[in-house]
Amino acid sequence: MLDKAIQDAMNEQIKNEFYSAYQYLSMAAYCESVNLPGFAHWMRTQSQEEMEHAMKFYDFILARNGRVVLQAMDQPVVDFSSPLEVFEQALEHEREVTAMINDLYGLAIRENDYASQAFLQWFVTEQVEEEKNAGDVVDTLKMVGEKSESLFLLDRELGGRTREEQPGPG
Ligand code: FEO
Repeated sequence: MLDKAIQDAMNEQIKNEFYSAYQYLSMAAYCESVNLPGFAHWMRTQSQEEMEHAMKFYDFILARNGRVVLQAMDQPVVDFSSPLEVFEQALEHEREVTAMINDLYGLAIRENDYASQAFLQWFVTEQVEEEKNAGDVVDTLKMVGEKSESLFLLDRELGGRTREEQPGPG
């Protein structure tokens, strides 16, 4: 049986992961609006991965005989000044998610919940990748600037993103 404090925190994280999906979908919509379909594809793919993250928590709560209680979500950010700002916000967002996962992990340690610690280990590792993915694009955008030719080439590259294999818990 799942400890109530951990169950509540994981229900909150289901919301956070779905909010991430919603935020990335909003970023995809912005990218479509400025004719960057490759950037939009990258964001849509990211959005789908976030929904999978949410469902890992959902299924883990159920597997531990817990109760899933979905929470209300805020509106995502809808306006951006540039593709660079989009990816800078994505990176900032992932850093916040990393802090949330670390807090959850700390709670699982304090509660002596070893199964949750093992489950959360996948997310600890995943967050390294999440920050790197967004950070790499930020670095590239800063390097090439926002000249239309460079953006066109980067747009083509990001349009080739495929879904990451997501083995692990859930
Ligand atoms: Fe589910 Fe991007 O962290």
